[in-house]
Amino acid sequence: MTASHPAADAGDLRRSRLAGAFTEEYGTAPDGAWRAPGRVNLIGEHTDYNDGFVLPFAIDRSVLAAVRLRADGGPVRLASTYGASGLSRSSFDLAALAPGTVSGWGAYPAGVVHALQAAGHQVPGFDLLLDSTVPVGAGLSSSHAVEVAVAVALNELLGLGLSAPELARLTQRAENDFVGAPTGIMDQSASLMGSRGRALFLDCRTLSAQSVPLPLAEQGLTVLVIDTRVAHSHADGGYGARRASCEAAAAAFGVPSLRRLPADADLSRLDPTTRARVQHVLAENERVLAAVRVLQEGRIRDVGPLLTDSHRSLRDLYEVSCPELDAAVDAALAGGALGARMTGGGFGGSAIALLEEEAVDVVAAAVQAEFAAHGFAAPALFSVLPADGAGRA
Ligand code: GLA
Repeated sequence: MTASHPAADAGDLRRSRLAGAFTEEYGTAPDGAWRAPGRVNLIGEHTDYNDGFVLPFAIDRSVLAAVRLRADGGPVRLASTYGASGLSRSSFDLAALAPGTVSGWGAYPAGVVHALQAAGHQVPGFDLLLDSTVPVGAGLSSSHAVEVAVAVALNELLGLGLSAPELARLTQRAENDFVGAPTGIMDQSASLMGSRGRALFLDCRTLSAQSVPLPLAEQGLTVLVIDTRVAHSHADGGYGARRASCEAAAAAFGVPSLRRLPADADLSRLDPTTRARVQHVLAENERVLAAVRVLQEGRIRDVGPLLTDSHRSLRDLYEVSCPELDAAVDAALAGGALGARMTGGGFGGSAIALLEEEAVDVVAAAVQAEFAAHGFAAPALFSVLPADGAGRA
């Protein structure tokens, strides 16, 4: 395993270090600290914006946000430990907040404030310090975790009383309207509603959520994340193009989303590319339902083949994989994983492999060897477990 990413959450020590750094930066202790995890999507990819089913879990890597409200009417001051050396800083004026006015990582907290303002909430000035153990750019929703941490902090400090689904919609608006990425509702939901040892079965049409047992550690299993280190961005064209294609297909059949497509819809009416996209979404929804059944019966290992089928569909029908993700999946399977797939939006980011804990070293070595053989940059490998969703740290 490589040690190039921050270690998993360490709890008390991390929180007290953050509080100390906050006091040093702003001269006063924070009002509190809030935690929001990243996520791995077990299965159900590119289904969320089609009103479909997803089965992600919150991981034991998180963003911590220390926050203190101010009453001086001054700007919102932001700092994060993301910089290579020392703190990285940003700020914005509450009165002049509009998409495009804040760039870089500061756009995530600013987007949440903007979404709160748009919903009619008064947000006062505040100071914020962020720290993260979610690797940035690995497709594990580090940016959504920032948005969720800020949203739960402000929800509590301002006494807004917003529910988890309301916070999920709010942070989705931050991402869509302010950051400019046309993403769905899965990542925020997993970060908000995840629970330890369980996956989150979410119906993205209604946001009705059910937690499903995923006792990996108890069963001697683990999920290995293979971060290909290939940069991905959902503000780029590929993700939006897939989404537009699905929306056009739904419109062609006169339904609001692919979820409402009648079972007897004649897909031969669609051009071959659009048809392939639709076929992926329909089959992927079925795979999520199958995975939920298997997990409810306690047969975690049987999820493996569903993961691998999902990857093939994303690679061949939805065309959102890349050579590094394919190499990661193939090598993990050859090394003995029970199943493997890309996770998240694709075009880079991470793959996951479900495997016996005792097989981790063999599978990791197989993946590293495959990457070296292709001349790819070395991947970052680490195991994750299902963790609790966002809350006070
Ligand atoms: C990204 C988006 C999610 C979802 C996935 C694909 O992670 O943020 O909303 O669409 O891609 O399943």
